[in-house]
Formats: sequence, structure tokens, C-alpha cells
Amino acid sequence: MSDASLTELLQQIRAQAARPASEALSLPPACYWREDVWALEVERIFRRDWLCVGRSNQLPNPGDWLKVDLVDEPLVVVRGEDGVLRALSRVCRHRGMDMLHDSPARHGHGALLTCPYHLWSYTLDGRLKASPMMQANTAPDASRCHLPTFALSEWQGFIFVCLDEAAPPLATRIQGLEQLLGSVDMSDWRIAGSVNWGESPVNWKVALENFAEFYHHIGTHQNSLQVLWPASRVSLDMRGEDVFMAGRMAVNPELATGTEDGHPIQATHLPTIPGLTAEQRGGTLVLAVFPLFALALSPDSAIWFEWYPTGPESHVLDIHLLVPGSSFDTPGFEQIVAEHLEAIRGVQAEDAAANEAVQRGLRSRFATSGPLAELEQPLWQFQRYLAGRLCT
Ligand code: FES
Ligand SMILES: [Fe+2]
Repeated sequence: MSDASLTELLQQIRAQAARPASEALSLPPACYWREDVWALEVERIFRRDWLCVGRSNQLPNPGDWLKVDLVDEPLVVVRGEDGVLRALSRVCRHRGMDMLHDSPARHGHGALLTCPYHLWSYTLDGRLKASPMMQANTAPDASRCHLPTFALSEWQGFIFVCLDEAAPPLATRIQGLEQLLGSVDMSDWRIAGSVNWGESPVNWKVALENFAEFYHHIGTHQNSLQVLWPASRVSLDMRGEDVFMAGRMAVNPELATGTEDGHPIQATHLPTIPGLTAEQRGGTLVLAVFPLFALALSPDSAIWFEWYPTGPESHVLDIHLLVPGSSFDTPGFEQIVAEHLEAIRGVQAEDAAANEAVQRGLRSRFATSGPLAELEQPLWQFQRYLAGRLCT
């Protein structure tokens, strides 16, 4: 299939996505490394869809900024003097410098955005404020020099950005998620700690698919996740259709702390979120909004996977532990967080090794599309999303 034209490959994706879930096949292997597929994904997915880039409370004050690279687009998310978050281009309107190129930190603070090249400066809402020694040229008028501004929306404290101004609002993309979450409101949850995994030589879809399916828990995670959440106790929720996937991992009854309404209850290390149903207290909800927003929600915390694809065979990953603001006062909090992060690191090491081995295998001339198990049906949902985006 790697010798196929891009059109033939897209036809195959469309045909596979049209199969019933019970007859689903994995994507053609060439989808995971071909440059032309990647270029199409950049154009039709990463420049058109909503992508999660941070937490609102990472930028509490006017002037706080967050550097974001959406594939090849350098952006900065800034909290303005009016308290509003904006996503701006950080490409200077003078001669095109990435204005934060010399900032190693992803976060910063400033009253203005100043380009280090010739010191043009911009207000926090993107207007040109000053352009030194430009009196001889009348060209830098305000409209020409305003930094491009992109769509930004917040949901449950997460910041989403979209480069396509014609895209439907985020709210229409995530209808149905609130139903899944019930009373959970993560708006004030904060990052308690992060695992900065860095760059991996793996296509972004390999990583997302690994996150979204529960079948590999019996192999890759047989001594970790599978012990606490046996794959046989996972229930998929297919309501997300081709927009999001969800699955509940119910705790192993032998490791539960008790039973409520017939649901074995999962142990927590931090205060349990108030208002949860017994089912919610009985396990961890894994959900992903395509293309790349991924969350595992437990009764006391959540793990958020922040992925940035960087090429056809690479991506960067940070994994964050989110907890309600009030949980920061829990006795022994730092130790509890440290243990959580250690566990996350361990599971991620298992996933990273699996993903890298899959990426190498997919390069073989003999790699092929394989039949998917029932616990892999979220991959079929993801294929339907991809077909909708790529095969237009
Ligand atoms: S490129 Fe930014 S001031 Fe010249
Ligand atoms: Fe995994």
C-alpha cells in the first residue's frame, strides 16, 4: 500500500471507516509515516480543528502568556488587560521574526509583546504599540500591523484554540461530553505536577490510538493498569460517534474499598470529588476528543495528555496531573503527588516502548491492516473522524 497514490490511500481509509464496528480494521500502515498523509493532516486537521493548548489558570493575571506551537504555527496565548484570553500569532508584522524565539520557557509575563529584532512592540490584544525609528515610512498603519488573532474557547478550564475562523464553535464539537461527566466541574482544577516526556519518534495517531484502546492493557500493562482495572471490566460508551471516545475502567473488586449501589468503589488518595455517582466512584473514565484531547478522570483527580505532533513520525508529550484547587491543602499532598507522577511515569514508559515498536513495525513492507478487537472500537470511531476530515 505504500506505493499507492494518496487518493487510493484515502479511498481505503474511507472504505474501512464505512465498515461496521464489528468488522473494523486498523488503518493502512502507510498512514503512520507518509509525508503526504502528514501534509494533508496538517492542512485538514491541525489547521482546522479545535486543539487543547493549556489550562486557563496557568495564566491567572493580565500579561501572562503561554507559548504554543501548533504544528508549524507559532502562537502565544495571552491574558489581556481586560482579563480575556486571546490566541495571537507571535510572528512580528515587521519582518517576520518569531517574537518568543529566544524564550526557553513556555510561560512568561509582560506588559507588552516586544520583538527582540527591531523592538516593535504590541499590546496584549495584538495592536501595534510602537515601531522605533520608522518616521520615514508611513506604511506601519494599525490595521496592517495588528497581530493575527485566532479563535479561542474554554471548556472546564481547558483552553482550546482553532486556526480556522470558519470552524463550528467548540461547544458544538463537544456536545454530549457534559452528560458523560455528570456533576464534575474541572474549571478550578490545577496542575499539581507534570511528567515532561519530551519528543518521541512516533506518529501522533499511534500515540492517540494507544491511549484510546483498552485491549493492550492485557499485554503492555499486565503488571500495572490491568491489575487495578482489568480489561474485562471496561465498558465502552459509543455515544461520541466520530467526535469523541469514552470508556469506563471499573476497579478490580478485590482492590476496592467497599461497594455502593452494586459498584465496587475505587480507592482515592486525595479527597473524592463531591457529587459523584457510585458508578463514577467505581473507576476511571478515559475519554478523548478527536484529534488530540485526552483525559483520564478518576474520582479524585485527572490525568491530561498534552500532545503536539511535530512531524509524520514524531510528537512531543507532557502529561499533567490535575486536582481540584481545594485538594492542594490535603495533608501529605506533595508526597501523594510525587507517587502519582511516579506511577504515571511507569505506565508511560510501558506505552512509549510499545508505541515505538509499533512505529518501527508499521514501516515494514509486510505491515498490513489488522482486525480490531471489541475493546479497540474507539479506533474505529477515530477512523470515522479521520475519514470525515481527510476524505473530503
Ligand atoms: S522583525 Fe520584529 S521588529 Fe523587526
Ligand atoms: Fe497504555
